Amino acid sequence: MKFFKLILLLFVIQTQAQQGGMWIPSLLNGMNEKEMKDLGMKMSVKDIYDVNQSSLKDAVPHFNGGCTSEVISPKGLILTNHHCGFSQIQSHSTVDHDYLTDGFWAYKMEDELPNENLKVTFIVKIEDVTTAVLEGVTSLTSELEKQKKIQENITSLTNSLPKENWQENKIRTFYEGNQYMLFVTETFTDVRLVGAPPSSVGKFGSDTDNWVWPRHTGDFSLFRIYADKNNRPAAYSKDNVPYTPKHFLPISLDGVAQDDFTLVFGYPGKTNEYLPAVAIEQIAKELNPAKIEIRDKALKVADSFMRKDNAIKIQYAAKYARIANYWKKWIGETQGLKKSNAVAIKRESEKAFQQKIVKAGKENEYGTLLADFEKNYAEIAPYASARDYFTEVVQVNTELLSVGYKLYQLEQVYKTKGEQSFTDRKNNLITGLNDFYKDFNATVDEKVFEQLIELYATKSPKQFLPQSLTNVDTKNLATAIYSKSKLLNYAGLKELLTGDTQTVLTNLNNDNGFLFVKELADKYLKEVAPKYDEINLKITALQRTYMKAQLELNKGSRIFPDANSTLRITYGKVKGYEPKDGIIYSPITYLDGVMEKYIPGDYEFDIPAKLIDLYKTKDYGIYGEKGKMPVCFIGTNHTTGGNSGSPAIDSKGNLIGLNFDRVWEGTMSDIYYDPSICRNIMVDARYILFIIDKYAGAKNLINELKLVHPKKK
Ligand code: ARG
Ligand code: ASP
Repeated sequence: MKFFKLILLLFVIQTQAQQGGMWIPSLLNGMNEKEMKDLGMKMSVKDIYDVNQSSLKDAVPHFNGGCTSEVISPKGLILTNHHCGFSQIQSHSTVDHDYLTDGFWAYKMEDELPNENLKVTFIVKIEDVTTAVLEGVTSLTSELEKQKKIQENITSLTNSLPKENWQENKIRTFYEGNQYMLFVTETFTDVRLVGAPPSSVGKFGSDTDNWVWPRHTGDFSLFRIYADKNNRPAAYSKDNVPYTPKHFLPISLDGVAQDDFTLVFGYPGKTNEYLPAVAIEQIAKELNPAKIEIRDKALKVADSFMRKDNAIKIQYAAKYARIANYWKKWIGETQGLKKSNAVAIKRESEKAFQQKIVKAGKENEYGTLLADFEKNYAEIAPYASARDYFTEVVQVNTELLSVGYKLYQLEQVYKTKGEQSFTDRKNNLITGLNDFYKDFNATVDEKVFEQLIELYATKSPKQFLPQSLTNVDTKNLATAIYSKSKLLNYAGLKELLTGDTQTVLTNLNNDNGFLFVKELADKYLKEVAPKYDEINLKITALQRTYMKAQLELNKGSRIFPDANSTLRITYGKVKGYEPKDGIIYSPITYLDGVMEKYIPGDYEFDIPAKLIDLYKTKDYGIYGEKGKMPVCFIGTNHTTGGNSGSPAIDSKGNLIGLNFDRVWEGTMSDIYYDPSICRNIMVDARYILFIIDKYAGAKNLINELKLVHPKKK
């Protein structure tokens, strides 16, 4: 029996070993290169990353810090997702030129639209600076002193390491403080909107289809990078010229088939792949279900109003999408963790790991690690739960409370930093909250308040509840606040914030909405946050040691660093999956599927008339395949938030697709990657070209591109 279990475990580790991982592009020699070649890659790793010659990495800039983009023409044209360019597309839209609804296409460069606060960042080179960062650290004993010294070293290295004056040095930690890398970067700030399909293409399926396969969304938009006459970064100027990239991606017209090699290059934001079983159990059993329940209630309230009232629908659409995105992800993640037996599998591997520690004679150093995790996670549980309730109810989902909390912080600023900081922040709030109130509806929010405060009062840990929430009638409380508080509209807010500092502080402390938030926040900041931070610091230190132990005792095995918004590559194959017993998903969707989902006039599933015509006449030009128009495909690439807009690249370095999502059954990949059900979702590059060419008629853009046939010849 024991033997059988061991074989099973080895089998699990083996199959796991075949896929998954987000790798540092400068460190692919050896194991990764071999794996990629076995999967079908025809390039060498130097084609992906090279400091001396141009390589794929020169075509993959970070898009505004949160998404990825790729250069696809010698004139600095870049491609990213529609949802990544959404706020730029929105900001240029008016009632007369509604680019969200109708799309936008620049048929001449002069028509391209400049954007404030938009930047793209290229990586010039990556270097290991671990030794320099850890200089003088090992001799220190206290955790706080160590962290301080590391920070000092990072600051001085960032300032002193060589770079050109238009570049930047950034040092980031990998493997939770066990490795440090320097990134020399170049950031361009003149980035103009070039094209976007209508939302009925770029956001087709909207929230219903979000995180779901089979998918039919053309989630893309186009921008162009502009530079000064020397091809260097420069602030917007009409004299700037299109950027000449070191490399741009040719686009394959040959498409993909099941089992084709794929590589996804981009900036994954954050993963937690090395958590101990006890932490995963806490997420799956306690933290996620509580957050899901809160958002479930908030979304149901919003939805009930949005369905009845078109004005509310417009006001709440973007907020609804944002809240729903992670609500849906957490549901998928929780189910995926259960279905894949992540906790049991981690527990088994922890047992084996404990034996390894003994065998290596490392009990002094690592012997109590796992037990310490158990102890600290048990201790942090009520604080972590209280923290989530506070964040989700007060800061994220009840809008009146979120404004109240900003005012609470304003009062704190006065207490800690004095009058000048107070006044600056106050003025920022007055300007900043104008837009907020345009999309605020007090009737909707009152219902949200009622439901969420009920949850807060009955389900968050009792010991941290303020007096006024014990045995509260939430309906009465809601009525009291939503009939009196001045936080209900912009005029009221401005009234509260008018006058000298003392008047403002008195005004605030006479408002029952403010006072309610203050009571919650005081309790939270005194009794929850400090203790949470204290235990969390211990957990962070344990996690660092745990990582070190794994690197040391599992030498040569496939350990990749957790995502940290730095450039990574992940690779795999085009592949379907089995979401449930008896169901098999194929890996490619077609325009026929878009038509199958068509609901005329629906805000999620409407289709533009021109696209229907193209479908009817099968006018797919050089982009179709055997009379059909491919739309999306999935693969085994290990991606996460931040990978949106990442290029999907074929075995020879050509663009085949644009990453934008993951399948719902596999969203637990941020914690536990299971190759049998984790898939990333990409738009087929040919669908993008078809929309640009046949739908929008933007031949000017097609003419800039390099279209290739890598599979022929
Ligand atoms: N789920 C994808 C991601 O996490 C896409 C989100 C945008 N789309 C949407 N329907 N909200 O970013
Ligand atoms: N949709 C995500 C993004 O915007 C990607 C993902 O989570 O798979 O980055």
